[in-house]
Amino acid sequence: MSIENSALWAQLESLAQTAKGRPLIELFEDEPKRAERFKIEADGLYFDYSKTSINAESRKALLQLAESQDVEGLKHKMFAGEPINTTEDRAVLHTALRAPKSAAVHCEGRNISDEIHDTLKHMQRLCESVDNGHWRGHSGAKITDVVHIGIGGSDLGPFMVCDALKNYASTQCCVHFVSNVDGAALTSALKNLNPDTTLFLIASKSFTTEETLKNAHSAKKWFLEKTKADQAAIAQHFIAMTTNSLAAIDFGIDAQNILSFGDYVGGRFSLWSSIGLPIALAIGFDNFKQMLAGAHAMDQHFLNAPPTKNIPLMLALVGIWHRNFCHYETLAILPYAQDLQSLPAYLQQMDMESNGKEIDKKGRALPFETGPVIFGASGTNGQHAFYQLIHQSKTIIPCEFIAFKQSLSPLNEHHQTLLSHVIAQSRALMIGTQGTQQTAPPEKTFSGNRPSTTLIIDQLTPYRLGQLLALYEHKIFVQGAIWGLNSFDQPGVQLGKVLAADIALHISALKDNMASLDEVDGSTQKLLKHLYCE
Ligand code: F6P
Repeated sequence: MSIENSALWAQLESLAQTAKGRPLIELFEDEPKRAERFKIEADGLYFDYSKTSINAESRKALLQLAESQDVEGLKHKMFAGEPINTTEDRAVLHTALRAPKSAAVHCEGRNISDEIHDTLKHMQRLCESVDNGHWRGHSGAKITDVVHIGIGGSDLGPFMVCDALKNYASTQCCVHFVSNVDGAALTSALKNLNPDTTLFLIASKSFTTEETLKNAHSAKKWFLEKTKADQAAIAQHFIAMTTNSLAAIDFGIDAQNILSFGDYVGGRFSLWSSIGLPIALAIGFDNFKQMLAGAHAMDQHFLNAPPTKNIPLMLALVGIWHRNFCHYETLAILPYAQDLQSLPAYLQQMDMESNGKEIDKKGRALPFETGPVIFGASGTNGQHAFYQLIHQSKTIIPCEFIAFKQSLSPLNEHHQTLLSHVIAQSRALMIGTQGTQQTAPPEKTFSGNRPSTTLIIDQLTPYRLGQLLALYEHKIFVQGAIWGLNSFDQPGVQLGKVLAADIALHISALKDNMASLDEVDGSTQKLLKHLYCE
């Protein structure tokens, strides 16, 4: 029987209907120990989900739902390297990238632990030689700047982590990121750089992504024109991180400078692989390893913690409750940390590219909702931008707050002010104006009753960031498993790529006055004519 026709699904629908009529604040009155019962503390993380409408009965039913979809079984298949990415017939083993060498991980019958740790050693050697100056450019000068070129999963993770962990920057090297094919991105990154002291990292799992290749070719052209060096100089200035070594060699990159990884690593989960090289270059290899250790600790927690003490599982179930039974369409991710300002964009790709799907693994069009629309910003900035709608519109937007006990940049009372805001926001969303016992005119009335979760972490360290990112990976995995999706492919992105190639052909033809635009729609015809013929 399909999940939406099960008695469990019906029970959860009815529980959500009942919960709708009860103000959240009353749940605390009914159950004085609610805050204790609806929180999980594990390895430096404190996860509170008491400000949601989940009660003991709905939690039990949600856990049964996960059981009925065999989330546990799929989890073990993932860690064991079975090809759970069914459409691409691939294993999903980003978890192997952060496992210790002693933990043998098998993929297609071979132990991949050695190849993973060999690549880590290669990364370490590279980082050290750039840092200690042994790595020299073609003119004999030391490297001062690194330009990372990649897009999507080959950019968002490294970019976000370099920003998040800038307090740990331990090298002299300055890392720049270029992702957009808009020439403005590369032009502004290169503007003040000296080609003799610049190292380019070309990050592309497939080494076929149009935007990345265009930027990489333009970077190569810039380098060769500015230095007047010959092709051989490319070896000292270009490194590739890819699963497609042949294409990287074809581009002109020295085979010694190719850091490969297995196709069991999905693009949006690849920051733990050699794609994370700019992170290691910026914060030092030891800190990079700390981040891997934190992610591995979260893998172990996800594998071994009992269901009600399992943070990724419970965070995922809160999301299932909100999406499928309360029918909330969006989710705000709100880190109260300036250093995590890019986290919402990173999680947007991780979640929306994984679970933004309506067809399940068996090819069935699902009759229920799947991945929510994710957005967010760092607090308190978001409060002065879009929180008005979160507090007072008719659309209910569950919020996931993330805060740190200690600041890495202590300044007067700033951190206390920041923390008072995050706590006040979750409280305000829940109680509204009724809870404040103030009489307010209609326009100043807040109905409250808006759910949120709060995750408190002691401090933003490489280890804790590793835990946090792995937590979200596993949350998304659980949700995809419950919905019956393949969370590890992204077929929807392909159509845009195919049509972009088609439009590019039309543009070339238009420019040569040979165009027939008959086969495209009227709007597309007009837009193209306006751009190229008027
Ligand atoms: O956006 C589609 C996508 O395939 C992502 O999944 C991926 O992270 C990105 O493109 C970049 O791909 P690549 O690393 O192969 O250049």
